[in-house]
Amino acid sequence: MAARREETHFGDKTVPLADKQGLVDDVFHSVARRYDLMNDLMSGGLHRAWKDALVTAVNPPKSDRPFALLDLAGGTGDVAFRVVAAGGPGTRVTVCDINSEMLSVGRERAAERGCDDVVRFEQGNAEELAHPDRSFDCVTIAFGIRNVPRIERALAEAHRVLKIGGRFLCLEFSSVDVPGLEALYELYSFNVIPAIGEAVTGDREAYKYLVESIRKFPKPKAFAQMIEDAHFRRVSFTSMTGGVVALHSGWRL
Ligand SMILES: C[S@@+](CC[C@H](N)C(=O)[O-])C[C@H]1O[C@@H](n2cnc3c(N)ncnc32)[C@H](O)[C@@H]1O
Repeated sequence: MAARREETHFGDKTVPLADKQGLVDDVFHSVARRYDLMNDLMSGGLHRAWKDALVTAVNPPKSDRPFALLDLAGGTGDVAFRVVAAGGPGTRVTVCDINSEMLSVGRERAAERGCDDVVRFEQGNAEELAHPDRSFDCVTIAFGIRNVPRIERALAEAHRVLKIGGRFLCLEFSSVDVPGLEALYELYSFNVIPAIGEAVTGDREAYKYLVESIRKFPKPKAFAQMIEDAHFRRVSFTSMTGGVVALHSGWRL
């Protein structure tokens, strides 16, 4: 009997699981140089407030106490720069992303900001981290987990590399839970975002994928269960902006 081919979603398409990462990589190669500008345009600057909430939860020490953060799917370093700005001289961030082009933009930004000594960029797959067990105080992933083909593996790896007492935080698009806002959000997502994407990056399809991938992502309660299943404890989530985004949290205890 032929082995059953595992499948997954890529936007609104069903694709072989083994093909998803390559397709995701093409999307981010295509948009990397305009990625940060697009974030501001698409969210009307709201992504800054969502990331600020993430950084508040990370709560890096203000002192020179060593604090090591791993920012998975960290792209162009946005979360890393915010954590370094909020923390004291002992704060160090490793940005891990699978996409060389996103990382190149991040390294340039770090050099411009003069923080390339405290933010390190490394190419890696969130599903298979090159770090030893229990090596980070905190692991974050912002708007990255829905792009990872095998989410369970990424959660297991985040758990493995966290120190005991360390916290996992995941910021991700969620499902709108305010009556009336839902229809408006759908309209905006499926019409306005791909149009802005086309105008700014020339790649309408990339932004169609990003919007579709939000729709396919598990609802916040289901995702919280996945975090529990990965052995995190005291799992919780906070919805923001009427459910547009959720901040998920779990501890390695
Ligand atoms: C929407 S961007 C988020 C970037 C950044 N965290 C932010 O909030 O600005 C998603 C990122 O996930 C990365 N990514 C996708 N699959 C990945 C994987 N398996 N391992 C690590 N990074 C991955 C992409 O390369 C891309 O940089």
